[in-house]
Order: sequence, then C-alpha cells, then structure tokens
Amino acid sequence: MSKIKKLRKAIFPVGGLGTRFLPATKALPKEMLPVNSKPLIQHIFEEARASGIEEFIFITGRNKNAINNHFDHSYELQDILGEKNKQLELDLTSNWLPDAGSIAFVRQYEPLGLGHAIWCARNFIGDEPFAVLLADELLLSAEPMLKKMKDIYDKNGGNYVGIMEVDKDQTSNYGIIDTANKNEDLVKITSMIEKPSKETAPSNLAIIGRYILQPEIFALLEKASPGVGGEIQITDSMNKLLETDNFHGVKFTGKRFDCGRPMGFLEANIAYAAENDAGELKEMLKKYI
Ligand code: UTP
Repeated sequence: MSKIKKLRKAIFPVGGLGTRFLPATKALPKEMLPVNSKPLIQHIFEEARASGIEEFIFITGRNKNAINNHFDHSYELQDILGEKNKQLELDLTSNWLPDAGSIAFVRQYEPLGLGHAIWCARNFIGDEPFAVLLADELLLSAEPMLKKMKDIYDKNGGNYVGIMEVDKDQTSNYGIIDTANKNEDLVKITSMIEKPSKETAPSNLAIIGRYILQPEIFALLEKASPGVGGEIQITDSMNKLLETDNFHGVKFTGKRFDCGRPMGFLEANIAYAAENDAGELKEMLKKYI
C-alpha cells in the first residue's frame, strides 16, 4: 500500500445563503448562530482541533465577515474586560483562538454549491488529504466524530464520510450511500446519490457533514456539472472518486442536530441546556407545554 499522508487540514464551507433561516440570516451568517452561547462555527472548529487538525480553511461569501471577526482578537472588548478583571469572560473571547498563521479565509464569489465551495480551497490544500466539516450539523458524542474517522484514516488511508440512519421518508434531504454491509460500523461504499426520493434511495444511510477526502477529488470537481437544485454537489464527485479509490462510511452513534433548520437549532439548544441544568429547563418548559 502507498504511504498514508498525514491529515492536517480542514475546510469549513460557510459560503451558503442559509435561506431556511431567513430573516435571521439576512445579515447574520447562519454559522454564527449560537448553541449554548457558542457560535456553530466555533463548535466545529473545536471538533476539528480536538481531532488533531492543524490548519483551518474557511470558505466564506458575502455577509460572512462576522466569522472572520470571531476568529480574531477583539482588543477593545479585551481591554475593557481586562480592566474589570473579568478573567473568565476574557478567556471566552480569545483563549481558544488558533495560532497565528494556521487559519485562512477563501472567498467563494458565488454560492454555487458545496462541491464548488470545497473546490475553492484546492490551492490551499495542494496534494494532501483534507477534512470537511459542515457547521450546521452539530454532532454531540463522547469522542469527536472527526477524531473517530481520522483514527480509521490514519491506519488505512482512503476516503471517508460520516453516515447515520435516517427515516426512509427523509432520504430526499440527504446524500444517501449504497453498501453491501449495511449493519457494520465501517461500511464500504459502492455508490452514493444526492437527495433521492424514498422510492429510489438505495438505503436509509445518510451522509452527515463530516468528510475525509483525497486531493484527487479536485480534478473531478473541476469538471463537475450542476446536480440536484442546480448546485455543484460534492456527492456527485465523490460518487466518481469511489470508482478508482477506496471509500468508506463511518457510522455516527451520538446525537446529531441539523442546525440549518430552526427546529433542529432549537433542539440543539435544548439538548445542551438539558446537560447544563435539566431541572431549570424542565421548570421552564412546564410553563409552555
Ligand atoms: P446548506 O445547503 O445546508 O447551506 O450547506 P445553505 O445553502 O447555506 O442553506 P439553505 O439550504 O439555503 O438554508 C451546508 C454548508 O455548506 C455551505 C453552507 O454555508 C453550509 O455551512 N455552503 C453551501 C457553501 O459554503 N457554499 C455553497 O455554495 C453552498
């Protein structure tokens, strides 16, 4: 087997319009919406770092400057907090920031789809494997999902997507994979398709927003035509890549929250609140339900 290249870089595509969350996303990036007082994008950045990622590439678009600012010092605020000896608040603003030079922002001029957003990072990735994490998919588990995937990658190389079972009538919201060994934790993928109807879906195993990909995907994305929804879909190019390269799905067994939808976002906040103070949450909900 050829030498397995070290996985060091991650792409965070944050260039989408977030239309399911309008009007909140008119001026505010969806990825800055807070779960447990922390923006979604910081949650997945921390997942990537806890998984051993060293370089972080954000694919941004119009109205996304709040993300750049969040990943920077805020000197005025820090000075005021320092003068007031508010150490805890000071730490929350900046002690989690990545080292200078380990973070890059690439502009996706037009939101042409997730595949296009990933392709925009090609010159910054070069000839290395890379991870992709979607900020609106918040994954709650004892071990970070990307770490679980990276541990498998480090031993075997190849390409991976996070997968989980969804209701049959939900397949049209996801990329869906086909495999001969549906019940295993690590499945060899034989094909994948974006947003199939429940009648045509090859399984109910959906791709969730975590990927480890080899750089060969960029040549396929370069030639990709728009797919479902008129967007350049990463699933279409991954489906081509698996013809020539190993592709596996890694099952996620924790809790997943689709924070790109208002109800999924609300559920994520409830789940974190339940972990922080279940008693107070119960009392509060009783007032309404
Ligand atoms: P989504 O399809 O969930 O995000 O893409 P969206 O397009 O912003 O949201 P809706 O469907 O209009 O509500 C998943 C991730 O991929 C990014 C998004 O920002 C999101 O984090 N993305 C999507 C891009 O970076 N560029 C794109 O062209 C499309």
